Amino acid sequence: MARHPDLSGRSVFITGAARGLGRSMAETLADCGATVGIVDLVMVEAEAVAEHIRSRGGQAHAFAVDVAVRRLYMAAAATFAAQCGRIDAVINNAMLLKYEPVDQITEETLTRMTSIGINGSVWGAQALLAHYDPQRGGSLINMASPVAEKGFPNTAAYSLVKGAIFTLTKTLAAELGPRNVRVNALSPGSVPTPGALGLNDKTEYERRTRTIPLRRLGREEDNAEACAFLLSDAASFINGEILHVDGGIAAAG
Ligand SMILES: NC(=O)c1ccc[n+]([C@@H]2O[C@H](COP(=O)([O-])OP(=O)(O)OC[C@H]3O[C@@H](n4cnc5c(N)ncnc54)[C@H](O)[C@@H]3O)[C@@H](O)[C@H]2O)c1
Repeated sequence: MARHPDLSGRSVFITGAARGLGRSMAETLADCGATVGIVDLVMVEAEAVAEHIRSRGGQAHAFAVDVAVRRLYMAAAATFAAQCGRIDAVINNAMLLKYEPVDQITEETLTRMTSIGINGSVWGAQALLAHYDPQRGGSLINMASPVAEKGFPNTAAYSLVKGAIFTLTKTLAAELGPRNVRVNALSPGSVPTPGALGLNDKTEYERRTRTIPLRRLGREEDNAEACAFLLSDAASFINGEILHVDGGIAAAG
């Protein structure tokens, strides 16, 4: 039997789901009964996650898509919708995690990061709107970050994407609420995922742990549990919320 909350019959398209927070959300949502679309850059990596989910009795389909490319994104979403009958939710999770001083950011890096994080999230909204059932409603979850709320040196490209995600979330909550689509964001803090471990070393994580109000790093499951809640009927009147799952980082300022 699926675990709580019951997401049986829901189809959820999750980008960047081959590892890290995306994979964790996919596995948790599948455990809750959802059929998940595992979207990432490399097919063997996406398929490995889908196969792992299927091996424990869940339902998953894998897709190799660069989310920055609208044509590829929409084609994969159409295939997933055909497999599931519709798409109930999209999680805009894919991102290139890169920190560097502002005077070192190249045109190529800035274009790539904004194309994945901002453009890709817009394509995610369009994919949901093309394939959700207006009677049942739809749910869009964007991935924000505490870096959008205060100044973190060397994160200019990354934090401007996450700042845009704050704005996009509020805008689309207002725009799409009347169409029975809820739009929210998760704002996880300091989770040592494969991508984040490429940004911060052990010493930095030890320093951060001392400053996080709850005095520990985030776990992938913390974010996945919050995601399952946001997609559940228990969150049916939550729209336009940035849900911090960060142990108090953003609140502490
Ligand atoms: N880890 C943290 O502490 C943290 C904190 C705040 C927000 N976030 C956000 O959570 C999300 C997931 O982060 P993570 O830490 O799991 O990162 P990660 O690097 O471990 O995983 C990101 C995944 O996205 C995929 N991806 C990258 N570009 C893609 C593209 N163009 N098309 C499809 N897939 C692509 C990668 O291949 C990878 O599998 C990101 O949006 C990140 O900004 C993470």
